[in-house]
Amino acid sequence: MFVKTPPTEDREIDNTLRPRNWEEYVGQQKLKNNLRVIIDAAKQRNESLEHLLFYGGSGLGKTTIAHVIAHEMGVGIRTCAGPALEKAGDIASILSNLEEGSILFIDECHRVNKSVVELLYSAMEDYTLHLVMGKGPMARTMELALPRFSLMGATTRPSLLPAPFRNRFGAVFQLEFYNTKDMEQIIRRSSSLLNIEMLKEAETAIAERSRQTPRIANRLLKRVRDFATTKGSGTITPDIASLAFSSLGIDEMGLEQSDRNMLLTIITRFKGGPVGIQALASSTGEDVETILDVTEPYLLQIGFLERTPRGRVVTRKAYEHLKISGTQQMIA
Ligand SMILES: Nc1ncnc2c1ncn2[C@@H]1O[C@H](COP(=O)(O)OP(=O)(O)O)[C@@H](O)[C@H]1O
Ligand SMILES: [Mg+2]
Repeated sequence: MFVKTPPTEDREIDNTLRPRNWEEYVGQQKLKNNLRVIIDAAKQRNESLEHLLFYGGSGLGKTTIAHVIAHEMGVGIRTCAGPALEKAGDIASILSNLEEGSILFIDECHRVNKSVVELLYSAMEDYTLHLVMGKGPMARTMELALPRFSLMGATTRPSLLPAPFRNRFGAVFQLEFYNTKDMEQIIRRSSSLLNIEMLKEAETAIAERSRQTPRIANRLLKRVRDFATTKGSGTITPDIASLAFSSLGIDEMGLEQSDRNMLLTIITRFKGGPVGIQALASSTGEDVETILDVTEPYLLQIGFLERTPRGRVVTRKAYEHLKISGTQQMIA
């Protein structure tokens, strides 16, 4: 599945094309305005930044914004992956080695081990770590003063965070999907960084098929460039772009075969829904996480899928896109 390319390739593309500062970070105007105020206030008061939580779909710019903020504040940033924080010792050594005023970025913070999250409560609140030494009646707690740091959490699933954790963030921001104009600007920037020549119409075509998501735009741009190199003159023209899209199985809405399969499964096996996530996962062979984090958010965003208390329902818009009429649905 195209949206799920191997993580190593992902990281390479992400790092070369990641915006470093405010000006390069396209779109998300509301988020940027609000952050500006928080950053300026912290700077003026000469304080460390509040703890901030960012949530939203994969590839929308959560990691990037944390780095941009570090750059704007002129402070260091240490990043770690939520699932890697398993034991009290893991977080204790990271926290105590942070520089005063610096940022600790925890990616996928909904997957941090429960015992570690509990340690974060006091660390976030009053910059102390309450460590329990020993076991049973001999157990003692030890308090460790920490440097003033700012925790930045990123998550695709904010509802999975325990309430006391969520409440300790000074502000919570949702990353939104990008409009076509912003996507075009991102693609233009990336193609100039990668020295890719492209016609304007092709730019729009890629923007429209990138699921309103910068990471996907960058990936798609690279794939289309391969077609321009091998099947064309090197320049990305609309014809080359169409050739690439059809070879990759990406349609005008940016849907891939796996998306269409999921919609078709709901239509044919579950009469268009509602269908629960478990049933959907087992009949499509996708895992629940992938459906929730990758496939579904965009389908909801473009109104092809609706979430009801009883499960997912395919909308009329999706039937039209797939060119399936109501009668065909009954036969299926
Ligand atoms: N606002 C933006 N402007 C330009 N490029 C962006 C923006 N947000 C994300 N990107 C691009 O998309 C890639 C993925 O973004 P990232 O911050 O890693 O997403 P997330 O952490 O939300 O999964 C980045 O490397 C960058 O190239
Ligand atoms: Mg990220």
